[in-house]
Amino acid sequence: MASKVASVLSCALLMAATCQAAAAGYYNPPSPDACGIKVGYYHDKCPPAEAIVKHVVGAAVQQNPGIGAGIIRMLFHDCFVEGCDASVLLDPTPANPQPEKLGPPNNPSLRGFEVIDAAKAAVEHACPGVVSCADIIAFAARDASFFLSDRRVNFDMPAGRLDGRVSNASRTLDFLPPPTFNLPQLVANFATKGLGVEDMVVLSGAHTVGRSHCSSFVPDRLAVPSDINPSFAMSLRGQCPASPSSNNDPTVVQDVVTPDTLDNQYYKNVLAHRVLFTSDASLLASQATAKLVSDNANIPGWWEDRFKAAMVKMASVEVKTGSSGEVRRNCRVVN
Ligand code: HEM
Ligand SMILES: *[C@@H]1O[C@H](CO)[C@@H](O)[C@H](O)[C@H]1NC(C)=O
Repeated sequence: MASKVASVLSCALLMAATCQAAAAGYYNPPSPDACGIKVGYYHDKCPPAEAIVKHVVGAAVQQNPGIGAGIIRMLFHDCFVEGCDASVLLDPTPANPQPEKLGPPNNPSLRGFEVIDAAKAAVEHACPGVVSCADIIAFAARDASFFLSDRRVNFDMPAGRLDGRVSNASRTLDFLPPPTFNLPQLVANFATKGLGVEDMVVLSGAHTVGRSHCSSFVPDRLAVPSDINPSFAMSLRGQCPASPSSNNDPTVVQDVVTPDTLDNQYYKNVLAHRVLFTSDASLLASQATAKLVSDNANIPGWWEDRFKAAMVKMASVEVKTGSSGEVRRNCRVVN
């Protein structure tokens, strides 16, 4: 019995190691079965699954691009806490009154839950009980990237994740980096999830879409002196109260130049000191990351290629396969 447990465990560890090694090189995408997830997982189990999700996400993003930003962020927040297992979707229950969803990094800012529900409902109608909520988040984040980038960020997303049964708000504070993190803290945070410095720089480029509440950067970033561009700081002071509170916390756009387009403008903003968070500005704090920022800013297509690969890699963090999870019937509650 003990040796069987040990061998199952070492198999899981081996798979995790293989998965990370395979995903490490940008131009060597993971082989189909790395991480136990693969491209086309539903082609035989539920052929329309990916098209259904894409359709639902496309309609939602067309109506409100901000929802697309929310869904891209949702993948990050799901994967960094308990792995990519849809733990972020679980609603509070008497047995579990404080799920991840209510953790400070998610509540009230995380958005897009209704789109995931709509995609799940449509997929359940076609193939009941087959497609996991974790895979729906990963497909939806891929599709949101596609639509927000005017179809330039177009990539395959492996699938076969199972949904988890554990969701604890306090874990969000343990694993999701706050906007006040400096470069070494960000690097260390991503490293705990098997992601490297370049992944961190490339994924931060998602701050080219969507919004932020003032409370995420006021007062620290608007204090003087600050490394923020003075006229940008002035504009933010005009949009935000000096002391945001839960009933007075407006939002501002992340990228003032192309707020609804997933492009490399973020890196130009970093270079121009026109970014919201300490974490964004800190990408210039080392020569190595500053070089990555300028490459992403200046070489056409460079960031898009790396973002596709980094999203796939992030979407493989601590995935559950085999007997370690379930396919939830309703994404908001465990079966
Ligand atoms: C590097 C560390 C990161 C930090 C410290 C960070 C922090 C934040 C914060 C504080 C907000 C604003 C939330 C609010 O007040 O409404 C935000 C928004 C956002 N983040 Fe990040 N983030 C990081 C990495 C990422 C990654 C890896 C992604 C996805 C690949 C991502 C995607 C987004 C998006 C799309 C938004 C806008 C969301 C919306 O409009 O609803 N972030 N982030
Ligand atoms: C969540 O984590 C906290 C702190 O680690 C712990 O006290 C609490 O019991 C956990 N909640 C559940 C439902 O497991």
